Formats: sequence, structure tokens, C-alpha cells
Amino acid sequence: MSTGGGRNRGRGMDPIRVGICGFGTVGSGTFTVLRRNRADIAARVGRDVLVTHIGARRDNPRCDTAGARVSRDVFEVVRDPEVDIVVELIGGCDTARALVMEAIAAGKHVVTANKALIAEHGNEIFAAASARGVSVAFEAAVGGGIPIIKAIREGLAANRIEWVAGIINGTGNYILSEMREKGRSFAAALADAQALGYAEADPTFDVEGIDAAHKLVILASLAFGIPLQFDKVYTEGIGALAQEDLAYADELGYRVKHLGICRRTAEGIELRVHPTLIPDDRLIANVNGVMNAILVKGDAVGPTLYYGPGAGSEPTASSVVADIVDVARTLTADPEHRVPHLAFQPDRLSGEAVLPISAVRTSYYLRVAALDRPGVLWRVAQILSEAGISIEALIQKEAPEGQETATMILLTSVTVESRMSEAIAAIEALDSTRGRVTRIRMEKLEG
Ligand code: HSE
Repeated sequence: MSTGGGRNRGRGMDPIRVGICGFGTVGSGTFTVLRRNRADIAARVGRDVLVTHIGARRDNPRCDTAGARVSRDVFEVVRDPEVDIVVELIGGCDTARALVMEAIAAGKHVVTANKALIAEHGNEIFAAASARGVSVAFEAAVGGGIPIIKAIREGLAANRIEWVAGIINGTGNYILSEMREKGRSFAAALADAQALGYAEADPTFDVEGIDAAHKLVILASLAFGIPLQFDKVYTEGIGALAQEDLAYADELGYRVKHLGICRRTAEGIELRVHPTLIPDDRLIANVNGVMNAILVKGDAVGPTLYYGPGAGSEPTASSVVADIVDVARTLTADPEHRVPHLAFQPDRLSGEAVLPISAVRTSYYLRVAALDRPGVLWRVAQILSEAGISIEALIQKEAPEGQETATMILLTSVTVESRMSEAIAAIEALDSTRGRVTRIRMEKLEG
């Protein structure tokens, strides 16, 4: 086996040379943190860590890059023989994939914050990295500054992980918090998140749950030892959430959060991102703004919670730099005995099936608009009862003055999604109901 990192052995106290590709929010944060904390980082690694080459299409006015070479072509960084670690912070998949694969082929270690790249191309990237004997580190890809990958891959290595549930998109959580706490509009809150550097280049990734789905796929692989399977995630965004649903949830003692959930069941693995009602006394229900939080339930440890800033320049840089420190420390380790990329040895990943959303079991919040006349609630209750679904809580609001439709809010028992879909279709087909039934899944998240 070739050992790409081998050329660093025997360099004694030579500095580790880092090349940063992409110099936006996270790239400039990484540069700044490495410079500001240079002495501490050198003391931790045992040698100096220097940014010697930056690849960026334009200068970043927030950073004085004096002392580092700057190239307009990011591939120049990968081709620089002096660079030991390539830090990929350009985002997206196409160029990033080509860049990372070229870096691996050149025997360079890679650090990336790119969740889309890892979720969609990680299997191929890790196989190439293992064959070449280099590391690909990606702590910043999930949870911004929270060291959740290290926690699951190393800190919880004793456990059989049962489920993971997390607020893993800072932009979405910021928007929901601003809407609920300050009554702000969706659009105004999203504009703020963009100005603060939290949102993706294409903010529909945040709003529609694609960014969270990328992160969830990575968490599921680390937790359950399965290959990365982005195409199997059920994804629902926050764009369709109405302010009134946030208020009704409050009234019933719940908060609505956009959660990524993966759970091991007897039938297979649930992998889903959607708005979720959570009891308001859970710690995770009270995580607001750009903060992320991830609950991990292990069989030995029980429930554990990891909390911190999920996006932003220096919080994300904190994870990128931690990876650089890790890689710098392991430059002399036998590549066969490094921590495996997906927590489990590549030849021991399991083929456990990922369940379709129709097979997922959960409880539900339903909002039904119905004519304000006797017997309607009874018909709705009858449909649910015939499906074996019980009603656990109910609010009925009178029709506002001059309007004919009243609102019913129902919280149900746990059932399988396919059965709930049939019951909802039957409710929508009643003469006495109007429009679509709003469905939000509920999770108790009990340890
Ligand atoms: N757009 C992402 C978020 C950035 O808002 O969480 C961090 O991955």
C-alpha cells in the first residue's frame, strides 16, 4: 500500500504547510484562527502550522494574507509540492470533487467543510483516500463548531447507537426562532441569515432541508455503520410552515423545530428531515437562533446532547482547524490504524435497509379546516379511530366572524405513515372539510 503521508515523516520540526482553497466566510475564518492561535496550535501539534498557499477567485478584504502565496486557480494549491494539507472550502460538488480527488491522488491530506460533497461522493472519496493512505477530515461538515463527528466516531465508540435527532441547519433554526419569538416574516429572517453568512450560496438548500439532509446522511453513517445514502433521505423543508401552526403548537405545549432524525428499528433505518413538534420542556426544543443541537441516544450512555453554533465564520473554522490539528498529529500514524472515515472499518459497513417514509412510525399534529357544523369532529374522529389512531389532544377554534370554516388541531398516537396518509386522504375527501390537512410529525425524544 502506498502511504501518501509518508513524505512528512522525518521532517522533524518542519512546519506543516496548509493550502486553503476557497476564501469566503469559512476560509477567511480558518486563516484568521490559525494565525491568531498560532502559538497554542503549535504547542498542541508539536510543530508550527502555517497557511502557505490560498486559492481564491478574489481577495477577501477582511484578511491580510501577507506571507501566503495567493492563486486565482484553486488547483494551483493542490499542485503545490510544498502543501501538506489541502483545505477544501469552495463548497458545491463538481469542482470540489475534482479538487479533492486530485489532492488525494497527489498524496495530500484533505480537510473539508463540504457536507454536500461528503454526503453525495463520500463513499468514493473515502475509498480513494484509504487506498492512497491519506486522511479526509470533515468535522465542519456537520453542526458547524460542534465536534459531533468526533463525539460519535470516537467518544461514543462503545455504544450501539439507537437514534440521532438534531437541529442541524442554523439558517432554518434562525428563521423559525425569529418567526416565533419576534413575529418576523420568513423572508426578513432569511435575509438576516444570509447577511450573517449562515445561509448556503443557494438558500433553498437551507429552507428545503437539503443541507440538513446532507448532514443527516453523514450522521447516520457514523452512527449505524452504513454507507452514505443521500438518495434515501426523506426531506421536507420549512417553507410551507404557517405562523399559526407555530402558535397552535405553543398552545399545546410543543415547539416546532426542523429536525434531522435517523433511527434504527427492527424493520430498517429511518432517515428523515422535516418540521417536528417536540415537547417544550425538552432542552433541544429551546435551542434558538443559529445554534444547533444534536441528541444522540447510545445503549450504554443513554441520551447525550451536543450544542453550539451551527454556522458562521469562526465557529465553523473552529472545526476546520481542529481537523487540521488532528491530521497534523496523525501524519506519522500508520494509515491502516487511523480512525476510519465513517467510524466503522470500510469492509465492515452494514447493508441494513433504509426505510421509505411510508414505513416510518411517529405521532402527528393535524390541522383540519372544516365547516362549522355539528358532526364534523365526530366524522374526523371516526376516520382516525377506524385506522387505529387515537386522538391524544384536541383544540377546536370557532369559525371567525363572517367565515364558515373552523379550525381543528389534533395530536395523535403513534402510527405508521402510510396509515396516516390514508386517513388524511379520507378526511380531505369529506364534504365538510376544506383544503389540505396540515400534517407535522411529532417526536417525544425520550431517553
Ligand atoms: N447553511 C448552513 C447552516 C451552514 O445554516 O447551517 C452550516 O453548514
